[in-house]
Amino acid sequence: AKTPVTVTVTGAAGNIGYALLFRIASGGLLGQDVPVRLNLLEIPQAVKAAEGTAMELNDSAFPLLESVNVYDDANKAFAGTSVGLLVGARPRTKGMERADLLEANGGIFGPQGKAINDNAADDVKVLVVGNPANTNAVIAMQSAPDVPNDRFNAMMRLDHNRAIAQLAAKTGSAVADIKKMLVWGNHSADQYPDVSYATVAGKPAPELVDSEWLDSYFVPTVAKRGAAIIEARGASSAASAASSAIDHVYNWVNGTTEGDWVTGGVYSDGSHYGVPEGLIFGLPVTSKGGSWDVVDGLEISAATQAGIDHNIKAAQEELDAVRALGLIK
Ligand code: NAI
Repeated sequence: AKTPVTVTVTGAAGNIGYALLFRIASGGLLGQDVPVRLNLLEIPQAVKAAEGTAMELNDSAFPLLESVNVYDDANKAFAGTSVGLLVGARPRTKGMERADLLEANGGIFGPQGKAINDNAADDVKVLVVGNPANTNAVIAMQSAPDVPNDRFNAMMRLDHNRAIAQLAAKTGSAVADIKKMLVWGNHSADQYPDVSYATVAGKPAPELVDSEWLDSYFVPTVAKRGAAIIEARGASSAASAASSAIDHVYNWVNGTTEGDWVTGGVYSDGSHYGVPEGLIFGLPVTSKGGSWDVVDGLEISAATQAGIDHNIKAAQEELDAVRALGLIK
């Protein structure tokens, strides 16, 4: 058997946590031959609920689950961690100003980044799910100066999967037939879902759908899907978010499929598609040997460039607000 891997999940007592932990414990995150040690991090008021989930994890008798521990101390929760799933975040409550929301999340992701810096394993990989995910990922990354920047990702995979689902439904095809979907930018309503490079059973997607459907249905439906789920379910996307987090980390660790790519919210070193250095941004990526490579050399239409630029501006404005609060450099 392989050596056990320590995985830390923050916000473990929340909705996404409940959908995520059992998939990790059953081998979905890392592979069916990798034993897992689960560390659950919660705020003190939610530790008891997380302990209840830990009891259920134990009761499921997962052969790959070596241990489950619950903490309210980030230094302990990230000790020896190779995969950190940063799910717990401060949601926006009624009447809350944007600056207050950013500050509250800075107070979570800054200390967690530092705890990762000081305690995690050398090979640590971090996926930030808690919103605003792209900005929270930058805060955590900057708080972990000893960890390479490219180990901090923000989750764009749910947006990517939502875009695949919409295109499959429209074209009457199987999701497995869709390759090279892409959602540029941020996990927010600014995102730019883009089928320019996508194929459906080998045929170019732009030949199968018209631009009217793309502009007036596809893009807004994918970008506003989170709100539609809240409207229908009375609660925000949880199982689909958990499933997409599993997909993201599985591909990061075990590689992507030959001839395809995925959307990853990855660190921009400033050399791709005009995205400035220092943003964590949705880009086309492949993975091999445990690290992402940005797919280069795509031909960018004026519409796509406008979508990218809009997201750059939105990301920078949010980072400027966080910088003004002294949360990042
Ligand atoms: P939830 O409210 O059910 O659970 C959040 C949990 O985080 C709570 O149990 C809370 O006690 C915990 N928490 C808060 N501060 C913490 C801290 N400092 N340390 C550890 N735990 C902490 O929320 P849910 O539905 O599980 O969503 C979690 C986050 O994921 C939200 O920010 C949500 O907006 C975001 N999200 C992101 C998506 C994406 O695609 N990137 C998709 C869906 C949700």
